[in-house]
Amino acid sequence: MTTAIILAAGMGTRMNSSLPKVLHPIGGKAMVHHVIDLAQTIQMDQVIVVASPYLDQNKLKSDRLIDVVVQEDPKGTGDAVRVALSAVADDEQDILILSGDVPLIEFETLQPLFEKRQSCPHDLLVLAMRVDDPRQYGRLITDGDVVSEIVEFKDATPEQRDINLCNAGVYLVPVKILRRLIPQLSAENAAGELYLTDCIALSQENGFTARYVETPAPETLNGVNNRAELAQAEQIMQKRWRQRMMLSGVTLLDPDSVYFSHDTIIGKDTIIHPHVTFGCGVIIGNDVTVLPFCHMAQCAVNAGASIGPFAHLRTGAVIGEQAAVGNFVEIKDTTLGAKAKVKHLSYLGNAQIGARANIGAGTITCNYDGFNKSPTYVGEDAFVGSNTSLVAPVQIGEGAIVAAGSVITDNVPEHSLGIARQQQTNKPVWAKNFRTTASELKKQKG
Ligand code: UD1
Ligand code: MG
Repeated sequence: MTTAIILAAGMGTRMNSSLPKVLHPIGGKAMVHHVIDLAQTIQMDQVIVVASPYLDQNKLKSDRLIDVVVQEDPKGTGDAVRVALSAVADDEQDILILSGDVPLIEFETLQPLFEKRQSCPHDLLVLAMRVDDPRQYGRLITDGDVVSEIVEFKDATPEQRDINLCNAGVYLVPVKILRRLIPQLSAENAAGELYLTDCIALSQENGFTARYVETPAPETLNGVNNRAELAQAEQIMQKRWRQRMMLSGVTLLDPDSVYFSHDTIIGKDTIIHPHVTFGCGVIIGNDVTVLPFCHMAQCAVNAGASIGPFAHLRTGAVIGEQAAVGNFVEIKDTTLGAKAKVKHLSYLGNAQIGARANIGAGTITCNYDGFNKSPTYVGEDAFVGSNTSLVAPVQIGEGAIVAAGSVITDNVPEHSLGIARQQQTNKPVWAKNFRTTASELKKQKG
Protein backbone atom coordinates (compact mmCIF):
# COMPACT_ATOMS: atom_id res chain seq x y z
CA MET A 1 0.00 0.00 0.00
CA THR A 2 1.17 3.51 -0.76
CA THR A 3 -0.29 6.85 0.27
CA ALA A 4 0.65 10.07 -1.49
CA ILE A 5 1.19 13.20 0.56
CA ILE A 6 1.21 16.36 -1.54
CA LEU A 7 2.73 19.42 0.11
CA ALA A 8 0.80 22.49 -0.92
CA ALA A 9 0.54 24.76 2.09
CA GLY A 10 3.59 26.99 1.61
CA MET A 11 3.11 30.76 1.41
CA GLY A 12 4.73 30.92 -2.01
CA THR A 13 6.13 34.35 -1.15
CA ARG A 14 8.55 34.31 -4.08
CA MET A 15 5.57 34.38 -6.49
CA ASN A 16 4.56 37.85 -5.22
CA SER A 17 0.94 36.95 -5.82
CA SER A 18 -2.41 37.13 -4.08
CA LEU A 19 -3.15 33.69 -5.56
CA PRO A 20 -1.63 30.80 -3.58
CA LYS A 21 1.38 29.46 -5.51
CA VAL A 22 0.05 25.95 -6.10
CA LEU A 23 -3.11 27.35 -7.75
CA HIS A 24 -1.13 29.10 -10.48
CA PRO A 25 -2.00 27.31 -13.70
CA ILE A 26 0.16 25.51 -16.21
CA GLY A 27 -1.66 24.80 -19.45
CA GLY A 28 -4.87 26.03 -17.81
CA LYS A 29 -4.68 23.64 -14.84
CA ALA A 30 -3.52 24.53 -11.33
CA MET A 31 -0.04 23.19 -10.54
CA VAL A 32 -1.34 21.22 -7.58
CA HIS A 33 -4.01 19.59 -9.77
CA HIS A 34 -1.32 18.31 -12.13
CA VAL A 35 0.28 16.62 -9.13
CA ILE A 36 -3.00 15.33 -7.64
CA ASP A 37 -4.06 13.92 -11.01
CA LEU A 38 -0.76 12.09 -11.34
CA ALA A 39 -1.16 10.60 -7.86
CA GLN A 40 -4.61 9.39 -8.84
CA THR A 41 -3.42 8.01 -12.17
CA ILE A 42 -0.84 5.86 -10.44
CA GLN A 43 -3.56 4.61 -8.11
CA MET A 44 -2.30 5.63 -4.73
CA ASP A 45 -4.44 4.11 -2.00
CA GLN A 46 -4.96 7.51 -0.40
CA VAL A 47 -4.06 11.03 -1.54
CA ILE A 48 -3.56 13.57 1.25
CA VAL A 49 -3.05 17.21 0.32
CA VAL A 50 -1.56 19.56 2.91
CA ALA A 51 -3.24 22.92 2.40
CA SER A 52 -2.93 26.32 3.97
CA PRO A 53 -6.01 27.85 5.65
CA TYR A 54 -6.05 30.39 2.78
CA LEU A 55 -6.52 27.75 0.11
CA ASP A 56 -10.18 27.46 -0.90
CA GLN A 57 -10.88 23.77 -0.28
CA ASN A 58 -13.58 23.56 -2.94
CA LYS A 59 -11.20 24.97 -5.52
CA LEU A 60 -8.52 22.61 -4.31
CA LYS A 61 -10.73 19.54 -4.50
CA SER A 62 -12.81 20.45 -7.56
CA ASP A 63 -14.38 16.98 -7.62
CA ARG A 64 -11.17 15.11 -6.90
CA LEU A 65 -11.22 12.32 -4.34
CA ILE A 66 -8.60 13.56 -1.91
CA ASP A 67 -8.18 14.12 1.79
CA VAL A 68 -7.23 17.64 2.74
CA VAL A 69 -5.40 18.46 5.96
CA VAL A 70 -4.81 22.06 6.95
CA GLN A 71 -1.41 23.25 8.11
CA GLU A 72 -2.42 26.28 10.17
CA ASP A 73 1.01 27.86 10.20
CA PRO A 74 3.47 27.05 7.40
CA LYS A 75 6.52 26.22 9.48
CA GLY A 76 8.27 24.29 6.74
CA THR A 77 8.05 21.11 4.67
CA GLY A 78 8.82 18.94 7.73
CA ASP A 79 5.93 20.49 9.60
CA ALA A 80 3.66 19.95 6.58
CA VAL A 81 4.44 16.22 6.64
CA ARG A 82 3.82 16.16 10.41
CA VAL A 83 0.31 17.52 9.82
CA ALA A 84 -0.30 15.02 7.00
CA LEU A 85 0.72 12.05 9.14
CA SER A 86 -2.32 12.65 11.33
CA ALA A 87 -4.47 11.57 8.37
CA VAL A 88 -2.51 8.42 7.54
CA ALA A 89 -4.47 5.48 8.86
CA ASP A 90 -2.23 2.49 8.25
CA ASP A 91 1.34 2.39 9.57
CA GLU A 92 2.41 -0.60 7.46
CA GLN A 93 2.83 1.34 4.26
CA ASP A 94 4.99 3.61 2.16
CA ILE A 95 4.45 7.32 1.79
CA LEU A 96 5.16 8.94 -1.56
CA ILE A 97 5.85 12.60 -0.80
CA LEU A 98 5.24 14.98 -3.69
CA SER A 99 5.32 18.78 -3.85
CA GLY A 100 2.47 20.86 -5.21
CA ASP A 101 5.05 23.12 -6.85
CA VAL A 102 6.73 20.36 -8.88
CA PRO A 103 3.99 20.05 -11.52
CA LEU A 104 5.70 18.50 -14.55
CA ILE A 105 6.24 15.16 -12.91
CA GLU A 106 5.06 12.07 -14.80
CA PHE A 107 4.56 8.41 -14.01
CA GLU A 108 7.84 7.57 -15.77
CA THR A 109 9.61 10.07 -13.51
CA LEU A 110 8.59 8.10 -10.44
CA GLN A 111 9.40 4.71 -11.90
CA PRO A 112 13.08 4.63 -10.72
CA LEU A 113 11.90 5.34 -7.18
CA PHE A 114 9.50 2.38 -7.16
CA GLU A 115 12.12 0.15 -8.81
CA LYS A 116 14.64 1.09 -6.11
CA ARG A 117 12.05 0.14 -3.49
CA GLN A 118 12.24 -3.49 -4.71
CA SER A 119 15.91 -3.78 -3.75
CA CYS A 120 15.78 -1.51 -0.67
CA PRO A 121 12.50 -2.32 1.05
CA HIS A 122 13.22 -0.56 4.37
CA ASP A 123 15.05 2.62 3.35
CA LEU A 124 14.18 6.25 2.98
CA LEU A 125 14.40 6.95 -0.77
CA VAL A 126 15.07 10.35 -2.33
CA LEU A 127 14.53 11.18 -6.00
CA ALA A 128 17.54 13.18 -7.16
CA MET A 129 18.23 15.15 -10.30
CA ARG A 130 21.50 16.24 -11.84
CA VAL A 131 20.99 19.67 -13.36
CA ASP A 132 23.11 22.26 -15.18
CA ASP A 133 21.55 25.07 -13.18
CA PRO A 134 21.01 23.87 -9.59
CA ARG A 135 19.20 27.10 -8.66
CA GLN A 136 18.06 27.07 -5.01
CA TYR A 137 17.48 23.34 -4.78
CA GLY A 138 18.71 21.36 -1.81
CA ARG A 139 22.09 19.70 -2.55
CA LEU A 140 22.69 16.00 -1.90
CA ILE A 141 25.78 14.89 0.06
CA THR A 142 26.32 11.30 -1.00
CA ASP A 143 28.49 8.26 -0.62
CA GLY A 144 27.67 5.69 -3.29
CA ASP A 145 23.88 5.58 -3.39
CA VAL A 146 23.61 6.55 0.28
CA VAL A 147 22.64 10.15 1.06
CA SER A 148 24.12 11.38 4.30
CA GLU A 149 22.59 14.83 4.19
CA ILE A 150 20.57 17.25 2.10
CA VAL A 151 21.86 20.78 2.52
CA GLU A 152 19.40 23.54 1.72
CA PHE A 153 20.69 26.31 -0.55
CA LYS A 154 20.38 28.95 2.16
CA ASP A 155 22.53 26.87 4.52
CA ALA A 156 25.04 25.59 1.98
CA THR A 157 28.72 26.56 1.84
CA PRO A 158 30.06 27.82 -1.52
CA GLU A 159 31.60 24.36 -2.12
CA GLN A 160 28.29 22.65 -1.40
CA ARG A 161 26.51 25.06 -3.74
CA ASP A 162 28.78 23.75 -6.52
CA ILE A 163 27.13 20.33 -6.20
CA ASN A 164 24.69 19.78 -9.04
CA LEU A 165 23.00 16.63 -7.69
CA CYS A 166 19.82 18.12 -6.29
CA ASN A 167 16.77 17.19 -4.29
CA ALA A 168 13.61 17.09 -6.40
CA GLY A 169 11.32 17.20 -3.35
CA VAL A 170 10.01 13.70 -4.08
CA TYR A 171 10.53 10.86 -1.60
CA LEU A 172 9.35 7.32 -0.87
CA VAL A 173 9.47 6.64 2.85
CA PRO A 174 7.94 4.01 5.16
CA VAL A 175 5.43 5.69 7.50
CA LYS A 176 7.21 4.28 10.53
CA ILE A 177 10.43 6.13 9.65
CA LEU A 178 8.55 9.41 9.25
CA ARG A 179 6.78 8.94 12.56
CA ARG A 180 10.19 8.48 14.26
CA LEU A 181 12.07 11.30 12.54
CA ILE A 182 9.56 14.13 12.04
CA PRO A 183 9.21 14.88 15.79
CA GLN A 184 13.02 15.23 15.98
CA LEU A 185 13.23 18.07 13.41
CA SER A 186 14.47 21.41 14.61
CA ALA A 187 14.16 24.88 13.11
CA GLU A 188 17.77 25.82 13.72
CA ASN A 189 18.65 26.76 10.16
CA ALA A 190 18.86 29.79 7.90
CA ALA A 191 15.11 29.78 7.15
CA GLY A 192 14.01 29.05 10.73
CA GLU A 193 11.80 26.26 9.34
CA LEU A 194 11.32 22.56 9.99
CA TYR A 195 13.04 21.15 6.91
CA LEU A 196 11.75 17.79 5.72
CA THR A 197 15.19 17.35 4.20
CA ASP A 198 16.75 17.15 7.68
CA CYS A 199 15.17 13.68 7.95
CA ILE A 200 18.07 12.46 5.82
CA ALA A 201 20.79 13.29 8.35
CA LEU A 202 18.49 12.15 11.17
CA SER A 203 17.92 8.79 9.52
CA GLN A 204 21.53 7.72 10.09
CA GLU A 205 21.43 8.72 13.76
CA ASN A 206 18.29 6.61 14.12
CA GLY A 207 19.71 3.55 12.42
CA PHE A 208 17.95 3.98 9.07
CA THR A 209 19.51 4.36 5.65
CA ALA A 210 18.62 7.06 3.14
CA ARG A 211 19.41 6.33 -0.49
CA TYR A 212 18.91 8.29 -3.66
CA VAL A 213 18.01 7.35 -7.16
CA GLU A 214 18.77 9.72 -10.01
CA THR A 215 16.10 10.56 -12.54
CA PRO A 216 17.00 10.31 -16.23
CA ALA A 217 14.49 13.13 -16.87
CA PRO A 218 15.40 16.11 -14.65
CA GLU A 219 13.28 18.51 -16.74
CA THR A 220 10.15 16.79 -15.35
CA LEU A 221 11.14 17.79 -11.83
CA ASN A 222 11.44 21.54 -12.23
CA GLY A 223 10.27 23.26 -9.06
CA VAL A 224 8.26 26.45 -9.40
CA ASN A 225 8.98 29.12 -6.82
CA ASN A 226 8.71 32.34 -8.84
CA ARG A 227 7.15 33.62 -12.07
CA ALA A 228 10.28 32.98 -14.12
CA GLU A 229 10.24 29.33 -13.07
CA LEU A 230 6.48 29.24 -13.77
CA ALA A 231 7.14 30.42 -17.33
CA GLN A 232 9.91 27.85 -17.71
CA ALA A 233 7.62 25.06 -16.51
CA GLU A 234 4.90 26.21 -18.91
CA GLN A 235 7.38 26.03 -21.80
CA ILE A 236 8.47 22.52 -20.87
CA MET A 237 4.85 21.38 -20.58
CA GLN A 238 3.90 22.98 -23.91
CA LYS A 239 6.86 21.31 -25.60
CA ARG A 240 5.71 17.95 -24.23
CA TRP A 241 2.14 18.46 -25.46
CA ARG A 242 3.28 19.68 -28.90
CA GLN A 243 5.37 16.57 -29.29
CA ARG A 244 2.46 14.34 -28.24
CA MET A 245 0.06 16.08 -30.62
CA MET A 246 2.42 15.65 -33.56
CA LEU A 247 3.07 12.00 -32.76
CA SER A 248 -0.68 11.41 -32.56
CA GLY A 249 -1.16 12.65 -36.12
CA VAL A 250 -1.69 16.40 -35.88
CA THR A 251 0.40 18.66 -38.13
CA LEU A 252 1.83 21.73 -36.41
CA LEU A 253 3.50 23.98 -38.97
CA ASP A 254 5.33 25.98 -36.33
CA PRO A 255 5.04 23.95 -33.08
CA ASP A 256 6.67 26.55 -30.85
CA SER A 257 3.98 29.12 -31.62
CA VAL A 258 1.02 26.87 -30.76
CA TYR A 259 -0.23 26.75 -27.16
CA PHE A 260 -2.36 23.93 -25.79
CA SER A 261 -4.33 23.39 -22.60
CA HIS A 262 -4.09 20.29 -20.45
CA ASP A 263 -7.32 18.94 -21.96
CA THR A 264 -7.03 19.89 -25.65
CA ILE A 265 -8.18 17.08 -27.95
CA ILE A 266 -7.34 17.19 -31.66
CA GLY A 267 -8.12 14.59 -34.30
CA LYS A 268 -5.88 13.06 -36.94
CA ASP A 269 -4.72 14.94 -40.03
CA THR A 270 -5.79 18.26 -38.61
CA ILE A 271 -3.39 21.04 -39.56
CA ILE A 272 -2.64 23.82 -37.11
CA HIS A 273 -0.96 26.88 -38.62
CA PRO A 274 1.29 29.18 -36.55
CA HIS A 275 0.18 31.32 -33.61
CA VAL A 276 -2.88 29.45 -32.43
CA THR A 277 -3.89 29.24 -28.75
CA PHE A 278 -6.19 26.61 -27.29
CA GLY A 279 -7.79 27.55 -23.98
CA CYS A 280 -9.41 24.86 -21.84
CA GLY A 281 -12.16 22.57 -23.11
CA VAL A 282 -11.44 22.44 -26.84
CA ILE A 283 -12.22 19.38 -28.95
CA ILE A 284 -11.21 19.41 -32.61
CA GLY A 285 -12.12 16.64 -35.03
CA ASN A 286 -10.18 15.05 -37.89
CA ASP A 287 -9.06 16.91 -41.03
CA VAL A 288 -9.71 20.36 -39.63
CA THR A 289 -7.58 23.30 -40.78
CA VAL A 290 -6.86 26.02 -38.26
CA LEU A 291 -5.25 29.01 -39.98
CA PRO A 292 -2.93 31.46 -38.18
CA PHE A 293 -3.79 33.63 -35.18
CA CYS A 294 -6.87 31.88 -33.81
CA HIS A 295 -7.96 31.64 -30.19
CA MET A 296 -10.42 29.02 -28.97
CA ALA A 297 -11.78 27.89 -25.61
CA GLN A 298 -14.67 25.66 -24.45
CA CYS A 299 -15.73 24.85 -28.00
CA ALA A 300 -15.92 22.01 -30.51
CA VAL A 301 -14.93 21.91 -34.17
CA ASN A 302 -16.13 18.99 -36.24
CA ALA A 303 -14.33 17.12 -38.99
CA GLY A 304 -13.22 18.91 -42.12
CA ALA A 305 -14.03 22.43 -40.89
CA SER A 306 -11.78 25.40 -41.62
CA ILE A 307 -11.13 28.05 -38.98
CA GLY A 308 -9.42 31.41 -39.34
CA PRO A 309 -7.14 33.17 -39.86
CA PHE A 310 -7.87 35.48 -36.89
CA ALA A 311 -10.97 33.65 -35.60
CA HIS A 312 -12.17 33.66 -32.00
CA LEU A 313 -14.22 30.67 -30.91
CA ARG A 314 -15.62 31.13 -27.42
CA THR A 315 -17.60 29.08 -24.92
CA GLY A 316 -20.30 27.00 -26.51
CA ALA A 317 -19.24 27.42 -30.13
CA VAL A 318 -19.91 24.21 -32.06
CA ILE A 319 -18.68 24.24 -35.63
CA GLY A 320 -20.27 21.68 -37.95
CA GLU A 321 -18.54 19.32 -40.36
CA GLN A 322 -16.86 21.12 -43.24
CA ALA A 323 -18.15 24.47 -42.06
CA ALA A 324 -15.97 27.53 -42.64
CA VAL A 325 -15.21 30.31 -40.18
CA GLY A 326 -13.09 33.08 -41.60
CA ASN A 327 -11.16 36.12 -40.48
CA PHE A 328 -12.29 38.42 -37.68
CA VAL A 329 -15.22 36.22 -36.77
CA GLU A 330 -16.22 35.76 -33.13
CA ILE A 331 -18.59 32.95 -32.17
CA LYS A 332 -20.12 32.21 -28.78
CA ASP A 333 -22.88 29.83 -27.67
CA THR A 334 -23.65 29.13 -31.29
CA THR A 335 -24.01 26.02 -33.40
CA LEU A 336 -22.90 26.39 -36.98
CA GLY A 337 -24.39 23.65 -39.16
CA ALA A 338 -22.47 21.40 -41.53
CA LYS A 339 -20.97 23.25 -44.53
CA ALA A 340 -22.30 26.58 -43.24
CA LYS A 341 -20.07 29.58 -43.86
CA VAL A 342 -19.32 32.71 -41.90
CA LYS A 343 -16.22 33.97 -43.54
CA HIS A 344 -15.66 37.61 -42.66
CA LEU A 345 -16.04 40.12 -39.83
CA SER A 346 -19.01 38.71 -37.94
CA TYR A 347 -20.28 38.14 -34.42
CA LEU A 348 -22.57 35.19 -33.79
CA GLY A 349 -23.91 34.77 -30.25
CA ASN A 350 -26.74 32.51 -28.97
CA ALA A 351 -27.48 31.41 -32.52
CA GLN A 352 -28.28 28.25 -34.40
CA ILE A 353 -27.20 28.36 -37.99
CA GLY A 354 -28.54 25.64 -40.27
CA ALA A 355 -26.51 23.48 -42.61
CA ARG A 356 -25.13 25.18 -45.72
CA ALA A 357 -26.36 28.62 -44.63
CA ASN A 358 -24.18 31.54 -45.73
CA ILE A 359 -23.64 34.34 -43.28
CA GLY A 360 -22.39 37.39 -45.16
CA ALA A 361 -19.53 39.68 -44.20
CA GLY A 362 -20.25 41.91 -41.24
CA THR A 363 -23.32 40.05 -40.00
CA ILE A 364 -23.98 40.66 -36.32
CA THR A 365 -26.42 38.87 -34.05
CA CYS A 366 -27.73 41.52 -31.67
CA ASN A 367 -28.28 38.99 -28.91
CA TYR A 368 -27.94 41.11 -25.78
CA ASP A 369 -30.11 44.01 -24.61
CA GLY A 370 -28.03 44.78 -21.55
CA PHE A 371 -30.08 42.37 -19.41
CA ASN A 372 -30.90 39.20 -21.31
CA LYS A 373 -29.51 37.08 -24.12
CA SER A 374 -31.94 36.14 -26.91
CA PRO A 375 -31.63 33.48 -29.60
CA THR A 376 -31.26 33.75 -33.36
CA TYR A 377 -32.19 30.91 -35.73
CA VAL A 378 -31.03 30.78 -39.31
CA GLY A 379 -32.52 27.91 -41.30
CA GLU A 380 -30.71 25.53 -43.62
CA ASP A 381 -29.53 26.97 -46.94
CA ALA A 382 -30.49 30.50 -45.88
CA PHE A 383 -28.40 33.40 -47.20
CA VAL A 384 -27.77 36.40 -45.00
CA GLY A 385 -26.43 39.37 -46.99
CA SER A 386 -23.47 41.43 -45.86
CA ASN A 387 -23.68 43.98 -43.07
CA THR A 388 -26.88 42.62 -41.60
CA SER A 389 -27.96 43.03 -38.00
CA LEU A 390 -30.13 40.18 -36.73
CA VAL A 391 -31.96 41.65 -33.74
CA ALA A 392 -32.75 38.69 -31.48
CA PRO A 393 -35.03 36.95 -30.80
CA VAL A 394 -35.47 36.39 -34.50
CA GLN A 395 -35.75 33.56 -37.01
CA ILE A 396 -34.64 33.40 -40.61
CA GLY A 397 -36.50 30.57 -42.32
CA GLU A 398 -34.99 27.76 -44.33
CA GLY A 399 -33.78 28.91 -47.75
CA ALA A 400 -34.64 32.56 -47.04
CA ILE A 401 -32.52 35.45 -48.26
CA VAL A 402 -31.81 38.55 -46.22
CA ALA A 403 -30.85 41.61 -48.21
CA ALA A 404 -27.50 43.20 -47.45
CA GLY A 405 -27.50 46.04 -44.97
CA SER A 406 -30.75 44.96 -43.33
CA VAL A 407 -31.64 45.42 -39.69
CA ILE A 408 -33.87 42.39 -39.18
CA THR A 409 -36.26 42.67 -36.25
CA ASP A 410 -39.05 40.38 -37.50
CA ASN A 411 -38.91 36.75 -38.55
CA VAL A 412 -38.26 36.07 -42.24
CA PRO A 413 -40.43 33.18 -43.52
CA GLU A 414 -38.76 30.30 -45.33
CA HIS A 415 -37.74 30.85 -48.97
CA SER A 416 -38.67 34.58 -48.70
CA LEU A 417 -36.61 37.73 -49.12
CA GLY A 418 -36.30 39.85 -46.02
CA ILE A 419 -35.24 43.41 -46.70
CA ALA A 420 -35.11 46.04 -44.01
CA ARG A 421 -33.32 49.17 -45.13
CA GLN A 422 -34.27 52.49 -46.55
CA GLN A 423 -35.26 52.61 -50.23
CA GLN A 424 -32.54 54.05 -52.42
CA THR A 425 -33.14 57.21 -54.48
CA ASN A 426 -30.82 58.26 -57.33
CA LYS A 427 -30.64 61.96 -58.26
CA PRO A 428 -29.43 62.28 -61.87
CA VAL A 429 -26.45 64.63 -62.53
CA TRP A 430 -26.53 65.75 -58.88
CA ALA A 431 -22.92 64.78 -58.25
CA LYS A 432 -21.58 66.64 -61.29
CA ASN A 433 -23.52 69.80 -60.39
CA PHE A 434 -22.31 69.57 -56.82
CA ARG A 435 -18.65 69.41 -57.87
CA THR A 436 -19.01 72.36 -60.25
CA THR A 437 -20.67 74.57 -57.64
CA ALA A 438 -18.30 73.57 -54.87
CA SER A 439 -15.15 74.24 -56.92
CA GLU A 440 -16.47 77.66 -58.08
CA LEU A 441 -17.12 78.65 -54.48
CA LYS A 442 -13.63 77.56 -53.47
CA LYS A 443 -12.01 79.63 -56.26
CA GLN A 444 -14.00 82.74 -55.22
CA LYS A 445 -12.78 82.42 -51.64
CA GLY A 446 -9.23 82.37 -53.08
C1 UD1 B 1 12.17 22.19 -1.33
C2 UD1 B 1 13.25 21.35 -0.64
C3 UD1 B 1 14.51 21.39 -1.51
C4 UD1 B 1 14.19 20.87 -2.89
C5 UD1 B 1 13.03 21.65 -3.52
C6 UD1 B 1 12.57 20.96 -4.79
C7 UD1 B 1 12.88 21.53 1.77
C8 UD1 B 1 13.30 22.15 3.05
N1 UD1 B 1 13.53 21.90 0.67
O1 UD1 B 1 12.64 23.52 -1.37
O2 UD1 B 1 15.51 20.58 -0.92
O3 UD1 B 1 15.33 20.98 -3.71
O4 UD1 B 1 11.89 21.68 -2.62
O5 UD1 B 1 11.62 21.70 -5.47
O6 UD1 B 1 11.98 20.69 1.78
N2 UD1 B 1 5.08 23.63 1.89
C9 UD1 B 1 4.09 23.35 2.80
N3 UD1 B 1 4.20 23.84 4.07
C10 UD1 B 1 5.25 24.61 4.46
C11 UD1 B 1 6.28 24.89 3.51
C12 UD1 B 1 6.16 24.38 2.24
O7 UD1 B 1 3.12 22.66 2.48
O8 UD1 B 1 5.28 25.02 5.62
C13 UD1 B 1 4.94 23.12 0.50
C14 UD1 B 1 4.95 24.23 -0.54
O9 UD1 B 1 3.63 24.68 -0.82
C15 UD1 B 1 5.59 23.54 -1.74
C16 UD1 B 1 6.46 22.46 -1.13
O10 UD1 B 1 6.04 22.30 0.21
O11 UD1 B 1 4.60 22.96 -2.58
C17 UD1 B 1 7.94 22.84 -1.15
O12 UD1 B 1 8.11 24.05 -0.44
P1 UD1 B 1 9.02 25.23 -0.97
O13 UD1 B 1 8.98 26.33 0.00
O14 UD1 B 1 8.72 25.52 -2.36
O15 UD1 B 1 10.44 24.52 -0.85
P2 UD1 B 1 11.71 24.78 -1.77
O16 UD1 B 1 12.40 25.98 -1.30
O17 UD1 B 1 11.34 24.72 -3.19
MG1 MG C 1 9.59 24.85 -4.13
